[in-house]
Amino acid sequence: MNITIVGAVDRQLEELLRSQTTRIRSVPVAELLALAQPAMAQPDVVVLDIREANLLPPTLATLRRQHPSTGVVIVAARMDPVLMLEAMRAGVSEWIADPINAAELNAAIDRVTSARPSIIHGQVFALIGAKGGVGTTTIAVNVATALAQAVEDERTLLMDFHLSYGDAGVFLGAEPRFSVADAMENTHRLDESFFESLVVHSKTTRVNLLASAERNVGPVDLRRISTILQFAATHYRYTFLDVPRSEAAVLDSLEGVAGIFIVANQELATIRNAGRIAATLRQRYGKERVKLVISRYDRQAEIGTEDIQRVVGSPVQFTVPSDYRVALNALNKGRPIVLDKDNKLAPAFQQMAYELAGIRVEKVVEQSRSGIFGLLRK
Ligand SMILES: Nc1ncnc2c1ncn2[C@@H]1O[C@H](COP(=O)(O)OP(=O)(O)O)[C@@H](O)[C@H]1O
Ligand SMILES: [Mg+2]
Repeated sequence: MNITIVGAVDRQLEELLRSQTTRIRSVPVAELLALAQPAMAQPDVVVLDIREANLLPPTLATLRRQHPSTGVVIVAARMDPVLMLEAMRAGVSEWIADPINAAELNAAIDRVTSARPSIIHGQVFALIGAKGGVGTTTIAVNVATALAQAVEDERTLLMDFHLSYGDAGVFLGAEPRFSVADAMENTHRLDESFFESLVVHSKTTRVNLLASAERNVGPVDLRRISTILQFAATHYRYTFLDVPRSEAAVLDSLEGVAGIFIVANQELATIRNAGRIAATLRQRYGKERVKLVISRYDRQAEIGTEDIQRVVGSPVQFTVPSDYRVALNALNKGRPIVLDKDNKLAPAFQQMAYELAGIRVEKVVEQSRSGIFGLLRK
């Protein structure tokens, strides 16, 4: 493996990385510009040491753009949420902080090198409402938008699997001409340019939407759904599915899905439904993949997350607070909530997005209203 260390002021990283199978080169930060040139031969991994400088070189984003398959690991003096967010925006999600040890550094390098196949192999997340109106589409739209905002050069897709008359498009202010139904009826000609012609590209949200059809759609074919999901996973970094709980064929096609989230609220009937759906999905896809999201979460409510977990038998991974006015206003405007920071729902969606993308929010710190809301930690 070829590793280029950029910006190191001493030989510590070099010593830590030394092994028989790695070739290491150490260069000053100024050389990042040369490395970012389109024709420049690339190392497998760039380890960027910013412990002294404490800022990200502007050429980092250029490098990521020109050479998306070059792995980048940042070594910093500390977990700095503002810089980490900036790094994510530049397309770098591996960040390790002092004190550095060989195991941690090598693990980060493994992650960036194993994540570089020639075609994108993305993650697909399914969201299923335990009942209509619980907030499933709101979550799908906002988490997809939050992720699309955070990782600029990655591609995020939202597919509305309500095959007819779904409303994800309304939430995004989109006016789709084509739909999931068109994709399903044409799986034989599913290629990049055809798929691109079916999705709506939104400049404001940066989410690509494959919308629901504005017409009745015949019975759905499991094989065709699987084909579309597979296509999405190989062409988009993140795919979110807004799945109706009544669409058995869709619920049967979730093999390749990284996480299945059942959305519920603190209401008995909904929780019962969630329990039934979760049991079926766990049996089919394994219990690790099935999680709960509680929408309109109320800390004071009689039914708490512990009760819900016990009844449903799956963990509550995320909660989204309640703010009907903000949610409704966003819906009526066709503008996702996460695009406006001054509300209590946006941080919940962002946190969910970062966690799904592999960046854990270690500690939520309410700093300023406009400022960063959490300490991001790998
Ligand atoms: N966290 C929330 N707090 C308050 N109201 C919400 C929240 N999430 C969604 N809503 C509102 O609930 C209604 C249903 O939301 P929606 O996302 O369409 O649910 P579903 O897709 O489960 O049917 C909408 O009017 C929406 O504005
Ligand atoms: Mg919905």
